[in-house]
Amino acid sequence: MKERESPSCAVEAPTFWRVGKSYRAPLLVRQFPPEVPFGFLGRLLPTHETVELTVEAHRIPAANALELVYGAQAVAEAELAAGGNGGRTAELEVERSSASELGDAVARRTQDLWKVGLRFVVRATNRLQVEARRNRLSERLAVMGFRSRIPRYEIRETLVAPELSASEVRPSGYWHTLPTDGLAALFPFGDETVLEPAGILLGLALSDASPVFVDRWSHASYSWGLFGATGSGKSFAAALTLLRTRWMRPDTSVAILDPLGEYTALVESLGGSVIRLAEGSGGRLNPLDPVTTSGDRREKAARVGTMMRALFPSLRDEEVAELDAAVTQLYERGPQVPTFQDLRNRVVERGTTGTRLATLLEVFRSGSLQALDGPTTARPSAKVVSVDFRGVPDDQLAFHLTYVLDWAYGRLTQLPGPKLLLIDEAHLLARHGSTEEFFDRVVRHVRHFDAGLLVLSQNPDDFLLRPAGRSLLRNLYATAFLRLPQVSSEARSFFGLTNAEADWLPRARLPRETGYSESLWRVGELHLPLAIIASTPEYELLEATLGRSRTVPVDSDSAPKGGL
Ligand SMILES: Nc1ncnc2c1ncn2[C@@H]1O[C@H](COP(=O)(O)OP(=O)(O)O)[C@@H](O)[C@H]1O
Ligand SMILES: [Mg+2]
Repeated sequence: MKERESPSCAVEAPTFWRVGKSYRAPLLVRQFPPEVPFGFLGRLLPTHETVELTVEAHRIPAANALELVYGAQAVAEAELAAGGNGGRTAELEVERSSASELGDAVARRTQDLWKVGLRFVVRATNRLQVEARRNRLSERLAVMGFRSRIPRYEIRETLVAPELSASEVRPSGYWHTLPTDGLAALFPFGDETVLEPAGILLGLALSDASPVFVDRWSHASYSWGLFGATGSGKSFAAALTLLRTRWMRPDTSVAILDPLGEYTALVESLGGSVIRLAEGSGGRLNPLDPVTTSGDRREKAARVGTMMRALFPSLRDEEVAELDAAVTQLYERGPQVPTFQDLRNRVVERGTTGTRLATLLEVFRSGSLQALDGPTTARPSAKVVSVDFRGVPDDQLAFHLTYVLDWAYGRLTQLPGPKLLLIDEAHLLARHGSTEEFFDRVVRHVRHFDAGLLVLSQNPDDFLLRPAGRSLLRNLYATAFLRLPQVSSEARSFFGLTNAEADWLPRARLPRETGYSESLWRVGELHLPLAIIASTPEYELLEATLGRSRTVPVDSDSAPKGGL
C-alpha cells in the first residue's frame, strides 16, 4: 500500500528540497570570473521563471581585511617564489598585483572587504522542470565565466535562512570574500532606466524596450550632442527632440542653424520663419550689428575678428593684426551700427598694409557677399526660426555659420523663456580654432540665459583636436552616438566608451534598415543603448517635411515686429 504523503511534509532529496508540489533547487557559485559587469545578475535571471536570489553582505573590519588581503598576496608570492606551480605563474602574478592594489585601496578606505553569501534557488512544480531550469541557469553563469556547483547532500545547510551574523557554516560556494566593487556588481537590478518627470522621450532601451525620459532643464547643462554618419538619423532625432521639447514646454523658442536647408519645410509647417541666406529671403542679418552683444562693442569687435578669420583663413599674421586694429577702431569711433562699407573705408583710410585686405573686402562691395553690406532687416518674431544656408559656397560656410551663431546667441540672451538652438553639421564650426573657441564659449554660457544647444555633427573626432572642442564636448549633458563608421581610440577614451560599445557603434542599425535609429546615449554617467522611435504623427510630420524643401515661396508676414 502506498503511503499517503502529507502535502506539507518537507522532503530533502540529494539535490533539491520539496514541500508538496513546490521544488526548490539551489545553485552556488564555485568561482567568479576575473571581471563582471555591473548589474549582471539582473540580466542573468529569467523574467518568466521564479528564481530566488539571496545576497547577504557583511563588512569585514578594516584591520582584518588588510590581514586577509596581505595574506593572499603573501601566498601568491610564496607560490611564485617556490616555482614549479604547474603553469600558474601568470595567474599568480595577477593575484599578487591585484591583492597589492586592493591592499592599497583598503588601506585608503576607498574599498572595503565583504563577506558575501550568495545563493540561487530555482523553483518549479516538478522535479524535471526544476532540474532543467537549474541547468539552464548554470549554463548562463558559465557563459559569463562563472563556475557553479550544486550543493549535493548539502541542501538543508544551503537553504536555511541567513542568521545575519554570518557565522553559520555553509556549503562551499556559499561564502565569498569580495571588495566593494565586486559586491556592488552583484546588485541585481542594474536598472538603467531613466524616467525624469517632465522629461522628453529619448528612446526605448534596445535591451527591453523600457522608455527613457530625460528633462533637459533639470541638469547643469541644457546642451546635448548628437553624432553619427550621414543617414544615421541625426537630423530626424534632433527634430523629434525639438517637437517633444515644445510639446512639454510650448513657450520654448527655437533657432536652427541649418547648413543643408533640411529643416525649412518643417519650420514653416510649425508656423516659424526661415531666413534663406543665399537668396536673401527673410531679410538680411548684418554681421557687424552690435545688437548681438547687447551693445558691448568690444566683445562685438572680438567676434567680428573671429568671423573674418573664418572667411579669410589665409590671412598672414600682420594682416590679421591690421584687420583687428581696423575693427577695433570701427567700434570705438565708427557709426552706431557699422556696415561692411564702413569697415572697408576704415581699412583703406589706415592704408598701411591694408591693400590686400581692402581687396579681400571687395567681396562685400561687388562680390558674392554684397548682400550682407547693409543694416539688419531680418527681425523674425516667430517662436521657431531657422537659417537656411543652402546655396552658400562651401568656402564661405564657416563664415556664415559664425556670424549667424553670433546672431543666434544674441537672440538667446535677449528672448524670455526657455530656448533651444540647434546647430546641424556643426563640424563646420570646428574648422578654425577661433571659431571653435567662440562656439565653446556659447555652449558654456547659454545656460545662464535658460537656453540649451543641440549640436549635431558627423564625427566627434572633429572636436577632439583642440582644447576648445574638448571643452565644448564636456559641456554637453547628454551625448548620443548613432552609427559611426569607426570609433577612434581618442573618442573611446574621451567618452569612456567600453570596447564592446565602440565595436558596436559601426554596426548600429540605420533607420533605412529598421525604421528607427539605434543609438548609444551618454546621459550623465549612464550609457544607454536606445532605439530612437517616432510615434505615427511625429513620423508623418517629419517624413513630409524634414529634408523636403518647399517650392512655394514663404510669405513675408512674419517680418518686422519686435527687436532681435
Ligand atoms: N528614428 C527614425 N525613425 C524613422 N525614420 C528615420 C529615423 N531617423 C532617420 N530616419 C530617416 O532616415 C533618413 C536619414 O535620416 P537623417 O536624419 O537625415 O540622417 P542624418 O541627419 O544623420 O544624415 C531620413 O529619410 C529620415 O527620415
Ligand atoms: Mg542631417
